Amino acid sequence: MPTAAIIGASRGIGLEFVRQYAGDGWRVHATTRTPDVPGELGELKGDVRLHHLDVRNDTHIARLADELSKTAIDVLVHNAGVLNSRGRASPEEVADTMRINAEAPIVTVSALLDSVAASEQKKVAIISSIQGSGRPRPQSPDLYGDSKGELNRRFRDIEPEWRARGITAVALHPGYVRTDMTGPHASISPEESVTGIRALLDNLAPADSGSFLDYRGKEVAW
Ligand SMILES: NC(=O)c1ccc[n+]([C@@H]2O[C@H](COP(=O)([O-])OP(=O)(O)OC[C@H]3O[C@@H](n4cnc5c(N)ncnc54)[C@H](OP(=O)(O)O)[C@@H]3O)[C@@H](O)[C@H]2O)c1
Repeated sequence: MPTAAIIGASRGIGLEFVRQYAGDGWRVHATTRTPDVPGELGELKGDVRLHHLDVRNDTHIARLADELSKTAIDVLVHNAGVLNSRGRASPEEVADTMRINAEAPIVTVSALLDSVAASEQKKVAIISSIQGSGRPRPQSPDLYGDSKGELNRRFRDIEPEWRARGITAVALHPGYVRTDMTGPHASISPEESVTGIRALLDNLAPADSGSFLDYRGKEVAW
């Protein structure tokens, strides 16, 4: 069976990725900031292996790359993200959000790229957001949207290098999903979002590399 790695798997969309891939018999490497108290992640059935990772911590990223250096990763999903502030953000919040949402996905995926290149499927999905479309907008700044816009810019810069290694990488909008980040009024469940993304990833072809797609496979504007 293939192997998936899910970065940021403790709750919400990331937890659902682990549940579905492991439920289908995949081996899943799942990262959490709290491996000693994994909560629901620790109760999932199947071949789930937990790794400790805070994506702001370069030592953690290097250790994870080392732990997985002999593992072929067919599908790597970078899901970790934060919505720290809906109003005026402090300088600390700005730095933290940019680190987690814009820098860490590129740094973490780059560190694991050899493991993806060694696999059969060679697929990378970076969970961005439609909130990053058309960002930055100086007239209406928004920290979360700007951080995802910056992630998209960095992804488009580096993706050709990944593609040259035979990897198919996409940025994704998971839909407006009911999680701790959004609350109960969001429009779809994590199950619906992840079911859609997994179908999209199953059918992903090298020509799709560098696309920005939503969970139904529809193209999203940069
Ligand atoms: N929900 C939506 O409607 C929606 C829409 C568009 C995009 N997204 C994106 O989808 C992704 C998942 O969102 P969600 O709705 O599932 O949010 P969530 O329920 O708040 O889960 C966020 C996940 O990211 C992890 N994370 C946060 N900071 C981290 C760090 N420094 N290091 C490692 N992991 C960290 C969290 O781990 P802890 O439990 O340790 O905090 C948690 O597993 C995010 O990138 C988000 O921006 C969500």
